[in-house]
Amino acid sequence: MKKSSFSSKVGLIMAAAGGAVGLGNIWKFPYIAGENGGGAFLLVYLLCVLLFGMPLLITEFMIGKRSGKSTYGAFRALSGTTHWQWMSWLCVFTAMVIMGFYFVVTGWCFNYLIEALTNVFHGMDASALAEHFRVVNGNLPRMIGFGVLPVLLTAAVLWFDVNKGIERLSKILMPLLLLMMILMAGRVLMLDGSNIGMQFFFQFDYTKITPHVVMEAMGQCFFSLSIGLGALITYGAYMPKGQNVLAASVQVIVLDTLVAIMAGVIIFPAVFAFGVSPEQGPQLVFVVLPAVLEQMSFAWLSSVLFFGLLCIAALTSTISLMEVAVAFVCEATAASRHPLNRRKSVCLVAALAVVLMILCIVFPAIFDLSDQLTAGFTMPLTALCISIFVGWVLPKSGAGSVLRNTTGLKRRVGQVYLFFLRWIVPLIILMVFLNGLGL
Ligand code: PFF
Repeated sequence: MKKSSFSSKVGLIMAAAGGAVGLGNIWKFPYIAGENGGGAFLLVYLLCVLLFGMPLLITEFMIGKRSGKSTYGAFRALSGTTHWQWMSWLCVFTAMVIMGFYFVVTGWCFNYLIEALTNVFHGMDASALAEHFRVVNGNLPRMIGFGVLPVLLTAAVLWFDVNKGIERLSKILMPLLLLMMILMAGRVLMLDGSNIGMQFFFQFDYTKITPHVVMEAMGQCFFSLSIGLGALITYGAYMPKGQNVLAASVQVIVLDTLVAIMAGVIIFPAVFAFGVSPEQGPQLVFVVLPAVLEQMSFAWLSSVLFFGLLCIAALTSTISLMEVAVAFVCEATAASRHPLNRRKSVCLVAALAVVLMILCIVFPAIFDLSDQLTAGFTMPLTALCISIFVGWVLPKSGAGSVLRNTTGLKRRVGQVYLFFLRWIVPLIILMVFLNGLGL
């Protein structure tokens, strides 16, 4: 079987960045930052990105590139034993659980896109928009319909090979999304009272940093960078040969962080200018953004364009999420008596995703639990195991030099990287876990 890969280095970066940049940046980051003290959260978040986001991202890319396999085969291929196989199950489990609630939120975005097209938000202020969100969200059949739509679209892209579907889409859309966000930020900063929002977001008030804020920032870092579930192992396996892992990682991180900060620069000034609370949780951007867009010139066109881009940003993420599970199923069944080819695997995973998505819609507690379980537990746990596996276990078996050759890291940088991977990453994750257990 011919192994698929991205056809260019830019293609891989765009696809990986497209997977990382999504609702996590535009929907989740502002509301979690809003609930956790704004600037204090931003500071801890940036530290998380540097201290463990970066080393883990490099590591996942490296595992994928070196092994050329999805999570199922990667740990076995690198270690030469099946002892670490269970980690791949943890990865697909996480991917499936995230898919459940991620498709719900993607469904909200599609709903808002259709409403933007029909000019529903015209004349609504923030409180009317809050009520509107409540009504829309209470309409279960509608929400399920809008949740199924992105599942089908994602499955359709994955039906074809990675380089055809994912790469082409991401290359065009990422730059467009950034441009649109810059325009929106420019408009928001002209609103009266926007400076209070900028202060809220950029003033680092150390007294607001609590263990809870650290925990939330850490979870958000995993979620936003898509680390701790093998998404980058899966994409790493499709890396073109000459690609530099360090450069690719830095580019993905910079893009992802830039979009999250940009989302904050749009949301918080608007929140204060419109007099709404920054602490209203998951509905925040759906209340604030349509109101911002109404203030733009060409309001209708701006709304349609923005929600269109948001839907696409969400889709490039659902594509990478579903690819984790699809690649796993293909590889896991390949040697069995009933191998599932790519298309059958896509059908199986999509069907499962629909079931989980419906559960999240019908039982809001499952929605919350799925988010907390993955960002707060399974992703950090997988990351901890990956750092021990690559930092401690592989070098023992003589894989250290292999590792350096694959990542292409210069000696010095390689040493710093390994130090972070071996000590800083596990220590931080362990500390946060112990704190969570109340110890
Ligand atoms: N990083 C994505 C976001 O910020 O929206 C969410 C995500 C995508 C998480 C893919 C995990 C993943 F594998």
